[in-house]
Amino acid sequence: MNERHFLSPWQEATGYIIYPDAFYDSNGDGVGDLQGIIQKLDYLHDLGIDLIWICPFFASPMDDNGYDVSSYYDVDPRFGSNEDFQAMLDKAHSLGIRIIIDFVLNHTSDEHPWFKKAIEDPSSEEASYYYFLKGRRTEKGIEPPNNWRSYFSESAWNKVPGSEDTFYLHLFSKKMPDVNWSYPPLREKYFEIARHYLDMGVDGFRLDAISHLGKDLSFSDSSLPVGPDGLVLDPSKYANREDMYQYLGEFKEKVLSHYDCLTIGEAGGGISPKQSLRLTNKYNGLINMAFNFDTAWCNGAFASIDRKDEEIYTRVIELKDNFKKWYDETRKDVEALPIYWTDHDHPRALSQYGNVEYRKQSMKMLISTLLFSYGVPFMLYGDEIGMSNVQFDKPEDFYADISSKNEVAYLRSQGYSDSHIAHYLCRTSRINGRQPMQWNSSDNAGFSIKEGRVKANPNAKEGVNVLDEEKDPDSILNFTKLAIKLRKREENMRFLRYGHYDLYDHNHPDVYGYFFELNEEKLVVIASFSKHTTYFSFHWRPTDVILHNYDDFIYIDHVFTLRPFECIVMKAY
Ligand code: GLC
Repeated sequence: MNERHFLSPWQEATGYIIYPDAFYDSNGDGVGDLQGIIQKLDYLHDLGIDLIWICPFFASPMDDNGYDVSSYYDVDPRFGSNEDFQAMLDKAHSLGIRIIIDFVLNHTSDEHPWFKKAIEDPSSEEASYYYFLKGRRTEKGIEPPNNWRSYFSESAWNKVPGSEDTFYLHLFSKKMPDVNWSYPPLREKYFEIARHYLDMGVDGFRLDAISHLGKDLSFSDSSLPVGPDGLVLDPSKYANREDMYQYLGEFKEKVLSHYDCLTIGEAGGGISPKQSLRLTNKYNGLINMAFNFDTAWCNGAFASIDRKDEEIYTRVIELKDNFKKWYDETRKDVEALPIYWTDHDHPRALSQYGNVEYRKQSMKMLISTLLFSYGVPFMLYGDEIGMSNVQFDKPEDFYADISSKNEVAYLRSQGYSDSHIAHYLCRTSRINGRQPMQWNSSDNAGFSIKEGRVKANPNAKEGVNVLDEEKDPDSILNFTKLAIKLRKREENMRFLRYGHYDLYDHNHPDVYGYFFELNEEKLVVIASFSKHTTYFSFHWRPTDVILHNYDDFIYIDHVFTLRPFECIVMKAY
């Protein structure tokens, strides 16, 4: 492995999420690839990025675009080769950038040789790698073993092909059988894979869906109220259970502690700050950081099929409470928190919390608050140019995402019309976070000469693209570049890393006001989430302005008049 020199300690890094399928296609087949990423590393370096999380690019039938892995040791040919992977790492390292890869360890593809063997020969070793259970005989026939719902709408059980009454567990799509972490030899398989990549020089992992590694092995029915189809999503049965900590403890002891690496778990399932500290505390934690989902959906859009557009707006107080809760309850015991607005599983940040009518102002506000927060910020590819949600009008337009596809089937079965479903998916679907990156205004947004899995957003032709924004001094892209540079300056970073964070005017319904205090100096951020003019009383004395998305201020008698999405980062005393 070559010497690695990073631009900053990981606690001060600026992260970027790449969905490889949609980032840049170097060979014109309509699929983004590793050579494409290599070609764009200079762009990311110039932007100031020094930590990249790349979503999975290993061999896969692509039911869930790579989260269904069929061989952990091979790059999928549509993304390139193992040599490309090494070349990508080498180039990133030469630029001082860390690369963490997405390690999918809760499930494999049903086309993984382990699963195929398990099905073929129920007495094989591989059969112990999965959860197989007999169904229940009812008057309707053979039904799944229990009432658990998967995260992708359907039953969490699917009948083994060719079997009359045996089912396997899948918490995600039916092509993604869950692996059985309670079986020690299975765990060893995953430890081997991790060692392989750490030896190769990857800088760490984003650990996919770790919350779900432990299950209620009694497989009893959930007692929560069930939906019209008799199923219920019950995280208490399969999220953040005691076993998960044991498995990850073993992972740390046998693998992670032997390497200098960064691990960030995806800790869904409603994990609490207290539970997450067991994973990430700096004394004897198991991994470095854990993404939680609490700040990603504070706008009423989640499961909003029955809500009107007017009911979807940013709940600023809820957002503040969530940031504050995670800070207050974990800060003194962790190295850092990962901060993000949205990732490849969500709508676009700009559409979620900003407003496309105020694209520049609102995205600059979201960039400012993200970068001037406590912790390690991650932006999703394309946030730096203000990419926004799709405007599709047919449910089928969302089928490149299996969870949306399943949701369409479910919603149709509940009687919703196609136009209603499409309208809802425009504001909630994961497709939004997986659109082709908008490099220029040519066809397919310059992502590829061919159309990708998802159609490029037409706004690429209206200036929302890298090339046009590079030329515009007032663009979101240039603002982001400046914001990253300013964040990194020691005089600002020391506040973000060591200052004490608190809210200023918690009850203001439209403004997220907060500050970091260090040795009696304060770095203050005042961010309006409203498209209307709003007022913010401020009784400290503003001194240096660090970053601002308007050219001037209106501050009279201790009151800021804030224009739509205005955001000021400043020092004050
Ligand atoms: C995680 C990933 C998501 C994927 C799921 C199953 O939540 O972020 O994209 O579908 O795990 O692997």
